[in-house]
Amino acid sequence: MSEIDRMRRHMDAELRKPGEHPDRSTRITRRTFLHKTFLTGTAVGAGSAAFGWLPLVNTIDMAFGATAQPFKFAWISDTHLYPKSVNTRFVDKAVRAFKEVQAMDPPADFLIFGGDLAQLGDPVELELGNQLLKEVKIKKVFIPGEHDWYLDMGKTWNKLFGQSPWRFDHKGVRIIGLDTVGSAPDYWSAKKMSPKERMDHMSVLDGTVAGAWSGLGNKQLQWLNDALADWPKGSPVIIFSHTPLYEYYPPWNFWVRDWREVHEIVRPYTSVTNIHGHVHQVLYNEIGTMRSIGMLATSWPWPYAPTGVPALTKPMVRVDPGDPFDGVGWGSLSFGAAERIENDYMMWRQDVLAESQVDSGTGDNVNQILSPRIADGMWPY
Ligand SMILES: [Fe+2]
Ligand SMILES: [Fe+2]
Repeated sequence: MSEIDRMRRHMDAELRKPGEHPDRSTRITRRTFLHKTFLTGTAVGAGSAAFGWLPLVNTIDMAFGATAQPFKFAWISDTHLYPKSVNTRFVDKAVRAFKEVQAMDPPADFLIFGGDLAQLGDPVELELGNQLLKEVKIKKVFIPGEHDWYLDMGKTWNKLFGQSPWRFDHKGVRIIGLDTVGSAPDYWSAKKMSPKERMDHMSVLDGTVAGAWSGLGNKQLQWLNDALADWPKGSPVIIFSHTPLYEYYPPWNFWVRDWREVHEIVRPYTSVTNIHGHVHQVLYNEIGTMRSIGMLATSWPWPYAPTGVPALTKPMVRVDPGDPFDGVGWGSLSFGAAERIENDYMMWRQDVLAESQVDSGTGDNVNQILSPRIADGMWPY
């Protein structure tokens, strides 16, 4: 057995202890919806029935412990706005999402904006987002993405949308918003990079130049520990983060580098739900007592990473590049009267032309085990 295999097996044994999982009063069902042409019974012959399923609008129902009361909230993230003078493609989609959230009936209790409001951190982009968000009149809470941050290191973001991390309690649920982008080591000063050069490095999918930038850092880990200290172990916790709180694919920074420390902190709590953006795709994962749900972007869908797609993910079908509204949208999450969470991906896909069990590149979903940190060599933490 190679050294890497030995490490993987050791880590898997440590992090997936037998019998450890999110609260098993949690009941998860997945409903696959028929495409609307099926529902209305129009223009679909029997021969095409096999291709008519819409496997990506999933509803994940979860039953919680008895403490939560019913409520609903909306998630929007990854709008990636350019100034209107450059183009309005992403602006139009953001406006659509904001209008749809505002039109929710009954209204959502709050909107969480999950980061990457801007494309290049330009104050013009952030101010544009701030203006467009005025469409949404319900309570709004914010966490930053890397695209919002690295031109001025969060100055404009914090001024417009407030600082993270934060927490509040809502109807029996402790709700936490993390900053997973603002604690990266300083890779730039020594190289005398301009703010724009720094931002350019931080805004690409292959973020290897900027290293392992996504993380909480020791101070915020301590804050998270303190933020949970007085919370009953069996009561529900929701943690919002821009990047996923596990190691999905570090070469694209689809992770936070100190995710294991996060899991150690939340481990005593039996019902923890992490909802994250950044990956621009449908994802579902469980590690220990925490489940993670990856949400859609409004701007564009990223492809699935070549390895590391969680085994519990029901992947999106490859999107149609000719349809700018394909593979994107927003999310509506309901905490129901029967103590269930219903997560609806409000995807804007117009038509479904094909069905696929798994997207290409999702790898081996059966024998998947947790991976060691690829970036350990780049930045020992
Ligand atoms: Fe993004
Ligand atoms: Fe991001």
